[in-house]
Amino acid sequence: MNENFPVAGQSNSLYDQVYDYLLNRIARGEWKEHDKLPSIRMLAQQLNVHRLTVFRAYQLLKDNGKVYVKDKSGYYVQPNFRMAVDHGEDSPISSYFQKSHLSEIHQVPVTYQFSKALIDPNLLPNLYFSHYVKKVFDLYPKVLGTYSTVQGDEELRETLARYFSKRHRFHVSADELLITSGAQQAIDLISKILIKPKDAVLLERPTYSAAIDIFRRQGAHLIPIDIHPGGYDLAQVESYMRQFKPRLFYLNPTFHNPTGYTVPAEQRKRLVELAEQYRCLLVEDDPFHDTYFDREPPAPLFAYDTEGWVMYIRGFSKYVAPGLRIAAVASRPPLMKCLLPEKSLSDNGTPLLNQKIFLHYFTSVRLQQHLEKLRIALNIRKDIMEEELAVANWKWTSPKGGLNLWVKLPETIPMEALLIQSMEQSVSFVPGSICDPLRKSESWLRLSYSYVNEQLLREGLQRLVSLARSLDSASEK
Ligand SMILES: Cc1ncc(COP(=O)(O)O)c(C=O)c1O
Repeated sequence: MNENFPVAGQSNSLYDQVYDYLLNRIARGEWKEHDKLPSIRMLAQQLNVHRLTVFRAYQLLKDNGKVYVKDKSGYYVQPNFRMAVDHGEDSPISSYFQKSHLSEIHQVPVTYQFSKALIDPNLLPNLYFSHYVKKVFDLYPKVLGTYSTVQGDEELRETLARYFSKRHRFHVSADELLITSGAQQAIDLISKILIKPKDAVLLERPTYSAAIDIFRRQGAHLIPIDIHPGGYDLAQVESYMRQFKPRLFYLNPTFHNPTGYTVPAEQRKRLVELAEQYRCLLVEDDPFHDTYFDREPPAPLFAYDTEGWVMYIRGFSKYVAPGLRIAAVASRPPLMKCLLPEKSLSDNGTPLLNQKIFLHYFTSVRLQQHLEKLRIALNIRKDIMEEELAVANWKWTSPKGGLNLWVKLPETIPMEALLIQSMEQSVSFVPGSICDPLRKSESWLRLSYSYVNEQLLREGLQRLVSLARSLDSASEK
């Protein structure tokens, strides 16, 4: 067995590991453009894996444009692959290609930041935060001398339980809520209590890239369900539930990341019925609910659930205070009983100070005023982005809320080259393949309009469009 295989920290399925292993070796320059790769038989022997595993990895490399096939002769390295390593082994630009993980794109500092689905800190009421911090220290002088309970501060859970019942008309008690350090921790905890290797998991295609990584790390068998502007093909959902008996369906039905689509109310009701019928938990991730432009989105799926088949994750990082990293999971008692020990193992409770500051800020009139202004500001930025992109021959569905535009480029524009060269020009975006459980969607990209101001939005998008034009093999040079 080769000592560099499997690749540490990479995805779990064996052919994925072979894929990453080959990609890394090509990226390191061990095979150059047009070099022939080892035969399937030889590599299978060398890595001590089945030939089919190597075959699938080669096929995926081929589908993703990393290698090409010559009839009866074997697999060869694609010519443009070298672009990923021309920047040197240690540069962040080479590494995000090798692993294609979102966090690695974020690590490269750029001026025109369209890859982070985060709200511009200048749009948050930073000056007022200190008021709530002071209030918390006055009200709870011992707050720093105390741990939170594992489940989360009771005062905060009582408040959120009242909020959910008033706002969404779903009824949970404080005991049915768990406070987590961000929504991502919630997904992680849920995957740990529910997923064993080879368990089937339905998830949207495309989806939140960290969720793909989390479920993959648990060894799940990922089954993608396409999401469209009008929701899902429910016949497909039903047929997959019947056929694969998935443990859960992870979904982000409201201003979905990365597409911005919202699943309509009729589908929500039906999904809950299907979940009950096929005993498949719905894990509803809902961090963008309040970032609508004109009209409130439909109630969460959790509101339709009477039998405990929905676990609801409500993240507040996006628009309340990302620095506090507060989210809540609503779940009926049997699953809550499993979540608590896992949360305890993970960090023994979210910091109490963060919870108390969040509580007092969240319940303030100021937050409501801030939200109204924020919705207007986000809508304006979205309009500006659409205006700038209108000159290009790109396609997207205009979202009614959220932070992102999911854009389809002509297939004649090479996405990898576009990413590398745009990062060099200080413009970042998320290539669609990172959000795709099948690692395809290569002519899509996600552009977040929420992080940079109006002027930077215009400048950066002009750079991006002009660069894409210069790389478009269909355009006349
Ligand atoms: C769909 C979705 N879920 C969860 C998260 C993570 O949220 P948090 O920062 O609260 O961990 C994000 C962040 O981008 C997201 O887009």
